[in-house]
Amino acid sequence: MTDQLVADRDSRPRAADAALRRRAAAVIPGGMYGHQSAGPLPPEYPQFLRAGFGARVWDVDGNEYVDLMCSYGPVVLGHRHPAVEAAARSQAALADCQNGPGSVLVELAELLVGTVRHADWAMFAKNGTDATTMCCTIARAHTRRRRILVARGAYHGAAPWCTPRLAGVTPEDRANLGYYTYNDLASVRAAVAEAGADLAGIIVSPFQHDAGFDQELVDPEFARGVRSICTDAGAALILDDVRCGFRLHLGSSWEPIGVLPDLSAWSKAIANGYPLAAVLGSDPFRDAAASIFVTGSFWFSAVAMAAAIATIGALREENALAAMERAGTALSAGILAQAAERGLEVRYTGPPVMPYLTFAGDRDYSLASTFAAAAVRAGVYLHPRHNWFVSAALTDADIAQALAGTDAGFAAVEARLAHHD
Ligand SMILES: Cc1ncc(COP(=O)(O)O)c(C=O)c1O
Repeated sequence: MTDQLVADRDSRPRAADAALRRRAAAVIPGGMYGHQSAGPLPPEYPQFLRAGFGARVWDVDGNEYVDLMCSYGPVVLGHRHPAVEAAARSQAALADCQNGPGSVLVELAELLVGTVRHADWAMFAKNGTDATTMCCTIARAHTRRRRILVARGAYHGAAPWCTPRLAGVTPEDRANLGYYTYNDLASVRAAVAEAGADLAGIIVSPFQHDAGFDQELVDPEFARGVRSICTDAGAALILDDVRCGFRLHLGSSWEPIGVLPDLSAWSKAIANGYPLAAVLGSDPFRDAAASIFVTGSFWFSAVAMAAAIATIGALREENALAAMERAGTALSAGILAQAAERGLEVRYTGPPVMPYLTFAGDRDYSLASTFAAAAVRAGVYLHPRHNWFVSAALTDADIAQALAGTDAGFAAVEARLAHHD
C-alpha cells in the first residue's frame, strides 16, 4: 500500500514519525535494522516511540497504545515501574559504568542463585545473544567438544552462528551446529548420533516460539528426554530462557516440569527494560565458565543490575506472574470470543502471557497484517508475526481498550474476507 493510501485511511497524526523515517533513510542503512526493518509490521505502525508508562506507550506523534509487545519482552512489570526506576536512579546517582563492577554484581548473582533452582553461579552481559553465545562457549570449554544442537527454526539471537538471515554468514560460522525438530525426541537422537563423540550441548527454548508460526508448548516427555540424553552424553543442556524467563516462572521456565538445565541464558525481562543479560549455570560448569574470556565495555554497568534486583523484588512482592496470568487469560477469552462471534477461524497459541494469533489459511500473513493494522489504528500495539507479551501492569481498563482494538482488527479481517468472496 502506498504511503498516501495509508495516510488516507488513518486519521491519527503521523507527521513526526514520517519525518524521522525520512531522516533515518539517509543515515541508517535501510532506514532501520533488525526486527523492525522492512518486513513484518504494516505501514500503520509507528517506527518511533516517545514515552511509556504502565501498560501504555505513546509514539512520537502523541498517539497512545495499549502495549501488548512490551518492547519484545523486556518490560514485564510495565513501563517506568516506580520501584525499578527508583533503584536505577539511586544507583545512577552513585555511578553506572566504572573500571569495575559495583556491589550490585554480587548482590544480583546471589539473588539469582537463590531464585533459580539449577543455578549455582551467574555471569552478566548485555544482550540475549551474548548469553546464548556464552552458553555455547562454556559448553564447548567444559566438554572440549564442538557440536551444539539447535531446533530448526528456533531463534537464539543475531550473531553469525544463529542469525536467521544468511547475508554475511559463512558456512564455517554454522559448521559446528546440528539440527533437531522441537518436541521430537527421535530427531534429537538422530542429531546426537550424527554428532557422535563431538557433542558439546543441546540448546532449547522453553516452548516453541518461532516467529510467524503457531506456538507449541513443550511436551514434558521431550524435556525429560533431552535432559537425559545430555546427561548420558556428558553434554550441556542449555535452556534459552531469554524470551520466557520471569514471565512463565520465577525460576527457569522448565522448573515447573522438573527439568533443570546445566546452563541457562537470560535477558529481556530480568531488569524490566534495562540492558542486561545473564548466564546461569550449575557447579559442574563453573570451571569452564571461569576459563573462557568474555567481557564488554558496558557489561559491569551497575544501573541495570540495580534495576534487576528491584525487578525480581517487585515480581515477588506484587505477585506479578499471577497478575500476568490473569490478564493474559482475560485477553485470550475476549479475543477468542470476538473471533467466534464473527465466525473467523483463528488459532491462539502459547501460554496466556505470551500468546500468538494466526488466521486459518493465512499463509502470506495478509489477514494477520490487516488485523494488526486495524488494531494499531484503534490503539493497541501487537504484532502480526511474533508472539505478544503481557505485562503485569495491564489493568482492566487496558484490557478493555486492547479488546476494543482487537475487535477493530477482526472487523477489518471480516470486511476483507467479505470483499474477496
Ligand atoms: C529466545 C531468544 N533467544 C535469544 C534472543 C536474543 O536476544 P537479544 O536480542 O537480546 O540479543 C532472543 C531475542 O529475541 C530470543 O527471543
